[in-house]
Amino acid sequence: MTVKILQFGTTGQLGVELLRQAPAHDVAITALGRGDCDLADPAAAARKVEELRPDVVVIAAAYTAVDLAESEQDAAHAVNAATPGAIAAAAAKVGAALINVSTDYVFDGEGGAPYAEDAATNPLNTYGRTKLEGEKAVAAANPRSLSIRTSWVVSPHGKNFVKTMLRVAAAGNPLKVVDDQSGRPTSAADLAGFILGLAETLAAAPAGDRRFGIVHFANDGEVTWRDFAVEIFRQALGDAAPEVGAQKTADYVTPAKRPLRATMDLTRLNRDFGVSPRAWQTALKDIIAELKAAD
Ligand SMILES: NC(=O)c1ccc[n+]([C@@H]2O[C@H](COP(=O)([O-])OP(=O)(O)OC[C@H]3O[C@@H](n4cnc5c(N)ncnc54)[C@H](OP(=O)(O)O)[C@@H]3O)[C@@H](O)[C@H]2O)c1
Repeated sequence: MTVKILQFGTTGQLGVELLRQAPAHDVAITALGRGDCDLADPAAAARKVEELRPDVVVIAAAYTAVDLAESEQDAAHAVNAATPGAIAAAAAKVGAALINVSTDYVFDGEGGAPYAEDAATNPLNTYGRTKLEGEKAVAAANPRSLSIRTSWVVSPHGKNFVKTMLRVAAAGNPLKVVDDQSGRPTSAADLAGFILGLAETLAAAPAGDRRFGIVHFANDGEVTWRDFAVEIFRQALGDAAPEVGAQKTADYVTPAKRPLRATMDLTRLNRDFGVSPRAWQTALKDIIAELKAAD
C-alpha cells in the first residue's frame, strides 16, 4: 500500500533529502514549504493535516538558528514546540502517525554521554529547550508519534559545517575550530532514508507499538568539531588541506551555550529498529563527492 506522507519543510537539509529519496520508497509525498504553510502558525499547520488526511506526517522543518533563537524565543517556541504539538493533535484526529525530528541539544553534555533516550534532559539553550518542548507536546497529543533525535546534520546542500569549512578554507584565512565539543555527525541523506523506511512501518503500527516514543539516530562514531574539520579537508583537499588550529569553547563566545558532549547512545536504534548507521567518515565521502561533482 502506498503510504501518503504529508511533509512539512522542503528547503532544509532533511526536507531536500526526503524528496530526493522518495521515489525509491512506496510513498506519495505532499510537501509544504514556508509559502504553503508558515510553521509559526500552529492552527494553519493543523488545518493542513486535517485537509490532507495523510497516513504519516513528517516534520522536516524547524527553527534551527541556534544563536538567533536566544533573541527570538517566541518564534523558536512557536515553530519548534507549539506547531509540532498542534500538528500531532491534528494527526491523531485523522488517524495519522507522526514523525518529529529533535536534537541532541536536549542534553547539557556535562556528564553521562553517550545519553540513552530516557537519560535526564537539561537543554542549555533556547533551541534545545524549544525542541524538548516539541518532543513533549507531540508525545502528549498523539500516542502514534516518534521523535527522532539527531545531531550535527550535514549534506551537500543548505547551511552546514562541511560547507562552511570548505568555504572558509577557500578564502585562505587561518582556521581555528573548537576542540572541546564532541558529537556524532549525521548525514541528512542517511536520516532521510531511515525516515522513509520507517514511514511505511509506522503507517500500519498501532498505538503502543514499541517504535513510537523517542529514538536517537546519528552516524556511527564520535569526533570533535576540530577533528571533523581535519577529516573534511583530508577528504576534500588531500595534500592541499589547511592547518586547523584548536580553540576552546570558553574562548569562542556565542549567544547560545552549546553542550560539550551531548553524544547520543544508539543502542535502541539497533535493538528496536534493526538499524546500524554507517560511520560518519563514510557518509562524509558521499557528501564530498557530490560537492566535487557539482563544482
Ligand atoms: N542542522 C543540524 O545540525 C541539526 C542538529 C540536530 C537536530 N536537527 C534537527 O533536524 C531537523 C532538520 O534540520 P535541517 O538541518 O534539515 O534544517 P535546516 O536545513 O536548517 O532547514 C530548516 C527548514 O525549516 C524551515 N522553516 C524554518 N522556519 C519555518 C517556518 N516558520 N515555516 C515554515 N518552514 C520553516 C526552513 O524553511 P526556509 O528555507 O523557508 O527558511 C527550512 O526548510 C530539524 O528538526 C532540526 O531541529 C538539526
